[in-house]
Amino acid sequence: MTTGAVSISGLAKRFGTITAADDVTLEIAAGSLTAVTGPSGSGKSTLLHLVGAIEAADAGTIVVDGVEVTSLRRRRLSEYRRTVGFVFQRYHLLPALTALDNVIAPVLPFRVGFDKRQRARELLDAVGLADRERALPSQLSGGQQQRVAIARALVGAPRLLLADEPTGNLDSATGGQILDLLLDLREERGMTVLLATHEQQIAARCDRLLRLADGRVTDDLDLTAGESPASTLARATQLRL
Ligand SMILES: Nc1ncnc2c1ncn2[C@@H]1O[C@H](COP(=O)(O)OP(=O)(O)OP(=O)(O)O)[C@@H](O)[C@H]1O
Ligand SMILES: [Mg+2]
Repeated sequence: MTTGAVSISGLAKRFGTITAADDVTLEIAAGSLTAVTGPSGSGKSTLLHLVGAIEAADAGTIVVDGVEVTSLRRRRLSEYRRTVGFVFQRYHLLPALTALDNVIAPVLPFRVGFDKRQRARELLDAVGLADRERALPSQLSGGQQQRVAIARALVGAPRLLLADEPTGNLDSATGGQILDLLLDLREERGMTVLLATHEQQIAARCDRLLRLADGRVTDDLDLTAGESPASTLARATQLRL
């Protein structure tokens, strides 16, 4: 069964006088890849942080696979966070650890039902870095560091992957390869992906495109409606990502 269906209702988050999420209501299908776009400050990262329960909502509900995440406390909340993978623009790898140890790091403190080292090796292989497991982050290119960060995000076998501008620091060819990788991994693992991006070429290849402004969803496009990539891109361009 594909998991990771997200149902958001009346979600709100304020920071002082700033409204970062304003009455957001959305259904996100399990296994889908949704691009979250919009200008700087429109609430893209906030939405990802709320879904990943890194930030607490002021109002509204988030239900993931039938469980209301917004009402979880303490232990159940930490358990939920461990079912979510995060990828960031700036990779956030630990500089003193090898690629392999970076991938293992999130599960290191926990008792898990799999061999951590073997799982990390499989993931480095899946992201095309089987031969670089001993490399330090400083010895890897930006695209390779982001691949390590993706492998790390997947080590706990998340049902949800939240990627905040994962291609933002990469040239467009490398960014395209990272998106190819996310598309393949999504397919293989059946997880749901929410991807915040400023780049229209990236957004146009997702299943769905949400545009935010001032914390509100202003556009919601289904990109799987049998269109050619070119016309999808044209539509995305009209939306001025
Ligand atoms: N921890 C915080 N404290 C105060 N204000 C915050 C905090 N996090 C976000 N904000 C504010 O909330 C609004 C939405 O921020 P958010 O980071 O979600 O935007 P974004 O769409 O991800 O922008 P960018 O494209 O620049 O990453 C902004 O006005 C931001 O300044
Ligand atoms: Mg952001």
